Amino acid sequence: MRLRPLTPNLGAEVCGIELSAHMDEALFRALYQAFLRYQVLVFPPHDLPPGSQVAFARRFGEVQVHVMNQYHADGYPELYRLSNLDRHGRPSGHHPDKGTLAWHTDGSWQRVTGQATIIYGEVMPESGGETHFCDMYGAYERLSPTWKRRVDGLRAVHNLDFSRNRRHGEDPLTEAQRVSKPPVDHPIVRTHAETGRKCLFLGDHAEYIQGMPYDEGRALIEELNALAVHPDLTYEHRWKARELLAWDNRCVMHRATAYDAANEGRVIRRCTVLGEIPA
Ligand SMILES: [Fe+2]
Repeated sequence: MRLRPLTPNLGAEVCGIELSAHMDEALFRALYQAFLRYQVLVFPPHDLPPGSQVAFARRFGEVQVHVMNQYHADGYPELYRLSNLDRHGRPSGHHPDKGTLAWHTDGSWQRVTGQATIIYGEVMPESGGETHFCDMYGAYERLSPTWKRRVDGLRAVHNLDFSRNRRHGEDPLTEAQRVSKPPVDHPIVRTHAETGRKCLFLGDHAEYIQGMPYDEGRALIEELNALAVHPDLTYEHRWKARELLAWDNRCVMHRATAYDAANEGRVIRRCTVLGEIPA
């Protein structure tokens, strides 16, 4: 296994690993250490069948079956497919999830939040459709002492129904989905369970602050979400088809960029590994 850092701060390309083959425990441990160190790992283009992707994700931990079951990829409820292609394989013009265009962290709307997200790019557009990552350790470290005091002990309430409806309102949660995923509160500053480092934990699913007037909390969240993104602590990934990316949702936020959904295809399959209750 060889690692090539992608920025001075976060992101590394991993070469020399065959993901569809059995990986022994020592190699996986080394890979997992790289995951903790670099926060985002990129694997060069290769063929990876859905079953192998799920098997690889299971090495990280328990895999989430997403509540929005309309996205389940054929035969694999652990995979969530986002595609703008119609049944003839032609671009439909419909962006499958505009919520991904805002900075967020996967699964922050659950009590047990997302640990790794593991995405395979089946089809990628010529331009646009990138994935950007920002470092939330750095975001916390760069807060002024006044800001650090201000956010200390605050808890934000995360709500998938809020973020989805606020951003686009398309294909809303069904009543059953909504009832199964009530809003949950998490600390704004969490300590990563494995690295022990403090990081900001917010993003687009965060709706309001517990114990604070709603509008005041909304304004604070918007301000912090913007403050968290530093260009020199960001990695912008321009995809090639058949790449696999794995990132740590506990300490990065990410977003996708727009693309021409009427003329270009973009199909990804995503697997989210469950982590822990943030503390
Ligand atoms: Fe996401």
